[in-house]
Amino acid sequence: MKKIGVALLGLGTVGGGTYRILKQMKEDIMRTDGVEIEVLHVLERDIEKAKALGVDPAIVSTDINNVINNPDIKIVAEFFGGIEPARSFLIASLKAGKSIVTANKEMFAKCRDDLEVAAKEGNAGLYFEASCVGGVPIIRTLQAGMQGNRIQSIMGIVNGTTNYILTKMSDEGLEYADVLKEAQRLGYAEANPSADVDGFDSMYKLSILSSLCFHKRIPLDKIYREGISKISKIDIDAGKSFGYTLKLLAIGKKVNGKIEARVHPTFIKNDNPIASVKGSFNAVLLNGDNVGDIMLYGRGAGDLPTGSAIVSDIVYAAVQSEHKLSYVAPTTDEDFNTDFESEYYVRMSVKDIAGVLAKITTAFGKYGVSINSVQQNASEGVASVTFMIHNTRESAINKAIAEIKSLESVNTVDALIRVL
Ligand code: HSE
Repeated sequence: MKKIGVALLGLGTVGGGTYRILKQMKEDIMRTDGVEIEVLHVLERDIEKAKALGVDPAIVSTDINNVINNPDIKIVAEFFGGIEPARSFLIASLKAGKSIVTANKEMFAKCRDDLEVAAKEGNAGLYFEASCVGGVPIIRTLQAGMQGNRIQSIMGIVNGTTNYILTKMSDEGLEYADVLKEAQRLGYAEANPSADVDGFDSMYKLSILSSLCFHKRIPLDKIYREGISKISKIDIDAGKSFGYTLKLLAIGKKVNGKIEARVHPTFIKNDNPIASVKGSFNAVLLNGDNVGDIMLYGRGAGDLPTGSAIVSDIVYAAVQSEHKLSYVAPTTDEDFNTDFESEYYVRMSVKDIAGVLAKITTAFGKYGVSINSVQQNASEGVASVTFMIHNTRESAINKAIAEIKSLESVNTVDALIRVL
């Protein structure tokens, strides 16, 4: 039987999960895929962690040369996260003819060109199923299951931490800061939560996923990004009264031949299947011109779900006779539309005096921004006014809001949330 040697770079949460699955599924993989996967080396500082997983200490070190110089290692799976040393170690592995498997979305989104050059040089494969939506096989679906379609759009919840926070805020009527604190205490959110709550993690994933949808490079600076840290319980409740659920969505779509890519909190209708995705679950809705809608749902993080995707890539890489890179064409500014259209929810606090609403609606009208509905609650000289705005361009609403903010009778504009 074909034997394939593998190195694991790191034995943290996902590395450990991967090791456990490889051990558990070894015989099954031999039977179903005709290949024996053998872990020949592990890079890990913490020898006790390795021992606890049952790894032979003789194959554990902190020296990447033990991986690069071992000709029996054909596949290198990386679990470090961050850019360095992951990038350098993977480039050296590829140049040495070893295929790589990574869950590292930030490094992959930022360094893909360098990895592809090294993969071509070493005639090796680049596998990244675990980089997006954890255990859900979205990359394989896009690469190997959608050839009969031009994909029109991808839309989804690709970050579990933010979906957990928004779900708790919505279901339990809690404020953002309180849920975040609890999520950090339970280990669901990082001590520095910025990568998740500010939308960076979703942006990296959207760059990777939409490049596979549209077969074009999607540079990070072409993705609009907004996180959830300014979301208030008041807005979630107001959305509910209009029949909406608030989600942090990653959206990639083609509009009149141009690509739009954005990550932002979005009100979606309660009957949209994405609205019912709760807690730390992820879901992605794809639309292909021939197949129509496809929805994938599952766990986007965790040792075994992400380990499941890593093991799938290891086996997939192990059985390939020839490695193939995904085709993604270069792009220029012309390929993108950054002034996209959306409906909006706007909440502001104003002085409860005559003529205020007239001034605000005049400012909206000046920029062609059309109001769908208005709600107002006034007490003690202050009114909270909520507008639902018809489809309009970002540039138009931003100009209107800037002018409204400058009105003497407007205290604050507290929320501007896109509505799908
Ligand atoms: N931090 C990510 C999330 C998991 O919360 O979904 C890994 O991408």
